[in-house]
Amino acid sequence: MVGGGQLARMSSQAAIGLGLSLRVLSDRPEDSAALVAARTTTGPVDDLAALRAFAAECDVVTFDHELVPPAHLVALEAEGHVLRPGPRTQRFAQDKAHQRAVLGALGIPVPLNRLVGSVDELAMFGDELGWPVVLKAVTGGYDGRGVWVFDDPRNAAHLFASGREFLVETFLPLDRELAVLVARRPDGESVVYPVVESVQVDGMCREVIYPAPISSEVAEHARGLALNVAAAVDAVGVIACELFLVGEHVLLNEIAVRPHNSGHFTIEGCVTSQFENHIRAVLDWPLGVTTPTAPAAVMVNVVGGSTGADPVANLSAALAVPGAHIHLYGKEARPGRKLGHVTALGDDVTETRARARRAAEILTGEQLPL
Ligand SMILES: Nc1ncnc2c1ncn2[C@@H]1O[C@H](COP(=O)(O)OP(=O)(O)OP(=O)(O)O)[C@@H](O)[C@H]1O
Ligand SMILES: [Mg+2]
Repeated sequence: MVGGGQLARMSSQAAIGLGLSLRVLSDRPEDSAALVAARTTTGPVDDLAALRAFAAECDVVTFDHELVPPAHLVALEAEGHVLRPGPRTQRFAQDKAHQRAVLGALGIPVPLNRLVGSVDELAMFGDELGWPVVLKAVTGGYDGRGVWVFDDPRNAAHLFASGREFLVETFLPLDRELAVLVARRPDGESVVYPVVESVQVDGMCREVIYPAPISSEVAEHARGLALNVAAAVDAVGVIACELFLVGEHVLLNEIAVRPHNSGHFTIEGCVTSQFENHIRAVLDWPLGVTTPTAPAAVMVNVVGGSTGADPVANLSAALAVPGAHIHLYGKEARPGRKLGHVTALGDDVTETRARARRAAEILTGEQLPL
């Protein structure tokens, strides 16, 4: 797995269960997965020589992020390395304009959008379609970094000065944000996970709630949409579809072609976790069933608080919360950084959510911002 973050760390856990030796190429020795994976190579993921040397030791190369330069992916594949997902699939997650254009043209509902390169073009879009608008960096954004809401185009002048490319889209009155994961084998065989609600704060996922409080019709529609998207991008491994619910309409926000924060609950909350199914899928092995293990599952992220306090200091106190499954990523505590997560299972979503939140609040020593 290229990338040494918490997704690689949790993938390593799944690989251990299967008796596999998952190698990790990580940027820095202190990365979350590098701390635990026995076979870790340290090297920059934008260095083709480092990628090539790493790939030479692997049967299949997969990814914990979307940061490998597209040209390097193409080069590695041309040299015969097996990349799953491959460059064409990864491009959808690397380039928001490509994603919107191709999936929109295939009939997947997406917000109205346009590429813009100046304050004037931004103004034209907003005047035509209404303010506020959402401006997004075409490449390189994550956790809301790379997403801005503007009601006055002049406020975006500093962004255009940077020379980056931007996509502007209509600001939708979201009723909820949903997510659906699909695991897909190279031949197209797929399994789809239950629909969850993802609660975002400042553009970052903070909580994931199963079941999503939506009708069974909307849920089935969302699952069907996610399967269509997975096929359209020729996904291999796990693909996460972040969805917007506006009234009864489901729109695609964005995809990630790897395990995803909205699927951490599957470690305890589904028969087969997203991490195990990602590994099975990229190895072209039979996929595991995705049936929920409890009527309700709630995941709460442990995000570094303003004091920079390390949640490890509060671990034993948090473990006293009954049924709180605590995952800490071994990352240095910094404000706003995802340091871990808590999952609770139960019969009732309100009670389950309260328990997961309690454990997360004990860990950070701060109240959740919602
Ligand atoms: N068109 C829109 N209308 C309303 N809200 C939006 C729109 N686009 C994005 N948002 C809000 O901003 C959040 C972040 O947007 P997006 O998922 O595109 O960015 P990201 O930084 O790539 O996300 P991630 O945190 O998943 O890496 C969304 O989850 C949503 O809350
Ligand atoms: Mg997102």
